[in-house]
Amino acid sequence: CGIVGYIGKASAPSVLISGLRRLEYRGYDSAGMAILEDGSVVVSKAPGKVAALNDKAHADWPVERFTRSSTGIAHTRWATHGPPTEANAHPHLDESGDIALVHNGIIENYRALRTRLEAKGHHFYSETDTEVLAHLIGDRNKGDLFQAVCDALSQVEGTFGIAVISAKEPGKIITARRGSPIVIGVGEGETIVASDASAIIAHTRQVIYLEDNDIAVVTADHVDIRDLHQVPVTREVNELGFDAAAAEKGGFDHFMLKEIHEQPDSLRNAIRGRLDFNLGSSVLSGMGTSPRDLAEIQRVVFVGCGTSLHAGLVGEYAIEDMADIHSEVQQAAEFRYRNPIIGSRDLVVAISQSGETADTLAAVREANQKGAFVMGLCNVVGSTIARETGRGVYLHAGPEISVASTKAFTCQVAVMLMMALKLGRGRRFSREEGMKFAREIESIPALVEKVIAQSDTIAAIAARYAQNEHAFFIGRGPQYPVALEGALKLKEISYIHAEGYHAAELKHGPIALLTEGTPVIALANDIPGKDKTLGNVEECRARGARILGIITEGDHEAAEVMDDVIEVPACHPLVSTIPTAVALQLLAYHIANERGCEIDQPRNLAKSVTVE
Ligand code: G6P
Repeated sequence: CGIVGYIGKASAPSVLISGLRRLEYRGYDSAGMAILEDGSVVVSKAPGKVAALNDKAHADWPVERFTRSSTGIAHTRWATHGPPTEANAHPHLDESGDIALVHNGIIENYRALRTRLEAKGHHFYSETDTEVLAHLIGDRNKGDLFQAVCDALSQVEGTFGIAVISAKEPGKIITARRGSPIVIGVGEGETIVASDASAIIAHTRQVIYLEDNDIAVVTADHVDIRDLHQVPVTREVNELGFDAAAAEKGGFDHFMLKEIHEQPDSLRNAIRGRLDFNLGSSVLSGMGTSPRDLAEIQRVVFVGCGTSLHAGLVGEYAIEDMADIHSEVQQAAEFRYRNPIIGSRDLVVAISQSGETADTLAAVREANQKGAFVMGLCNVVGSTIARETGRGVYLHAGPEISVASTKAFTCQVAVMLMMALKLGRGRRFSREEGMKFAREIESIPALVEKVIAQSDTIAAIAARYAQNEHAFFIGRGPQYPVALEGALKLKEISYIHAEGYHAAELKHGPIALLTEGTPVIALANDIPGKDKTLGNVEECRARGARILGIITEGDHEAAEVMDDVIEVPACHPLVSTIPTAVALQLLAYHIANERGCEIDQPRNLAKSVTVE
């Protein structure tokens, strides 16, 4: 799941380990590195965390090895083919043991390739698709590693981001991508290859993003990029926009808590300069369309995965309510396989924090294929989805390190509210209404501050729910997707089995699971439909459930039917989704903390899922 390669003057093992640490947030279950030393490749691998790899390398390797080697590649693996054992961890070697490879992605035709190579006498030690690629490169190698990698890659089907070294050709790393990101950091007398800029930022801000089917020869002071036919291609050098400090915990116990607290600022950054109070509209120049083009749009389709999918569900309410345009959300994983009915008057908005999620990227490509008007709503600048959509809106939330997404979600919703305002003003929405709604959006950071100020109170409530093994989240209207997101947040970091339902849907089945004390978290904000939600709360109470209500500040009527309450400030129903989501993030965090969970790196999860 994470790749780091280093070539330069510093100690390769040390740089690789610290690079892997910066990628830990992505989620993984084993780690490894290969370095070049005195004409041979030396490998160290370990199941578990990067700390385990570091301990193992220090135990197994002589001290001089750490200072002598200045070239190497490393990897954190999120298991796809085969369990997270030492044998399955990357790097993998070819038959000769001279070539080492790390790989993100999936080689889909690896079984056929493996059978062919076994018939030629190759031996395999792991269950991975990656080892097959290492052997294939070795098999094609006739003394020119670059040529061998090109040959091998032209035979594989699937996706890859790779870094390769060879004992026979020290002084270079070969790297390539198809569907899985590779960034090259161009330092002074050193070059870093990584799957994610966080591993590079401590060394340099000058980066080159590889495009699909690019293959590069990287030395300490040069980067030569070609296509698979070896024709040179030019890729510009970009300047990274965030500094190393943004990737540190800054006094908080966990990145997740830090990122929850950052939300007032990240929301301010997402909103800054984008509201026009005079026109009563928003300025989203990245949408890059004239009012006439926008007026042509007949339907808005949001695609995304996980938390981003939930943000899209809020967006759907906003677009229909404010812009009067038919809107829907589709799971990115389903989009290209269901042969969607999409045309030139459909706006397809791909929502992705990382901008690298494989399914969302595939949906972008399908929508482009069908001639839709495609936009990206990404956080990571220069990410693949941002580049392939060509237009859209960046979140400006700053780097999100915690696997469980928090600030990206609230910024996604804020940006979608601004999109809805812009599209609405091109239709039925009056200037007056627009101005009012722009003020509501402007108030979001302050609303969120009020929720964050209650963190200690929420921690005390969390302690009362931390021992339960099940929980239900209910909501209606725009709070329905927030209930789904609240349940997702809780299950991913606390491992409590949590389900989100529409408040009315509970009685159609899930209510059978309520017993004495089962927690029901009811989103009963004072918005249209509240009374009905309170009715649903009564149904749950009658079955013995313990109710935690998220209610509007000062709403005594709602408070009365709850066992515990968290109050969020009064605001527009669509806007209320944001402070409510923040309350649920804090609840999940404090419950997980109470249970002693590894909050920033939950088991089995990856920050960015670059496989289908
Ligand atoms: C993974 C992460 C989630 C995230 C989802 C989509 O599953 O663990 O937190 O919501 O991917 O990621 P994206 O970067 O496309 O928003």
